[in-house]
Amino acid sequence: MTIKLNLIAAACENMGIGKNNNLPWKLKSEMDYFSRMTSKTIDPTKKNVVIMGRKTWDSIPTKYKPLQNRINFVLSRSNLDLKNCKDVYASNSLESCIEKLEDNAFKSVYETVWVIGGRHIYEAALKSDSFHRLYLTKILKTFDCDTFFPPLPTNLKKVSDPDVPEELQTENGIDYTYNVYENTQFGK
Ligand SMILES: NC(=O)c1ccc[n+]([C@@H]2O[C@H](COP(=O)([O-])OP(=O)(O)OC[C@H]3O[C@@H](n4cnc5c(N)ncnc54)[C@H](OP(=O)(O)O)[C@@H]3O)[C@@H](O)[C@H]2O)c1
Repeated sequence: MTIKLNLIAAACENMGIGKNNNLPWKLKSEMDYFSRMTSKTIDPTKKNVVIMGRKTWDSIPTKYKPLQNRINFVLSRSNLDLKNCKDVYASNSLESCIEKLEDNAFKSVYETVWVIGGRHIYEAALKSDSFHRLYLTKILKTFDCDTFFPPLPTNLKKVSDPDVPEELQTENGIDYTYNVYENTQFGK
C-alpha cells in the first residue's frame, strides 16, 4: 500500500461543514489556502489529485469546474456524464478510485492525493488504510449547518507542516486556525 490520502476540511465549532450544498461562511483567505495546499507540487510537471463527492462537485460554480491544475475525481454511485470534462474522472467507490491511483500507468502523473469532502467521502477516507493526514481548519464560531464532519478518529496526533501557518487567522471578524493531524496507524 503506497497511496496516502490527505483530507482537507474547514469545520466550525459544531463541526458543521455545509449548508444548502454550500459553505456556511465566506472566508476568501481560507479558500485561497485550500487552493494553494491542494495545487502545490514539488515537481512542476505533475498535478495533485482531488477526490470529492458528487454533491461537492455539484456545489462548485461552473466557472471553477473542474478545479484547475488538479486532477478531479468525483465519486458517485450513478453514471455521471463527465465525458466533456478534461482532467475529471468518475469513480463509484473510494476503493476503485484508490485502485486507479495505484495503477503504475497513472502514478507517474500526480503527486499528492487530497480528499476534499463532503461528509460521506471524508467518512470513507477516515476508515481507509490509506488515510494519512487531516488538514483541518477550525473556525472558532458556530454556524447554522446541515452537513457535519464525521467524528474524529482517536488515533490522530497533531503535527506541523511548513506550508501551514500556525498563527491565529482573522477574516471578516471570524477567527480560525489551521491544524494538521496525522493518523498514527498509517502504514502499520
Ligand atoms: N467545509 C468544508 O471543508 C467542505 C468541504 C466539502 C464540502 N463541503 C460542503 O459539504 C456539503 C456536501 O457534502 P455531502 O456530505 O452532502 O455530499 P458529498 O459527500 O459531497 O457527496 C455525496 C454523494 O457522493 C456520492 N457518494 C458518497 N459516498 C460514496 C461512496 N462511498 N462511493 C461512491 N459515491 C459516493 C453519492 O453520489 P450519488 O448520489 O451521485 O450516487 C452521494 O450522494 C456541501 O454543503 C458542501 O459545501 C464542505
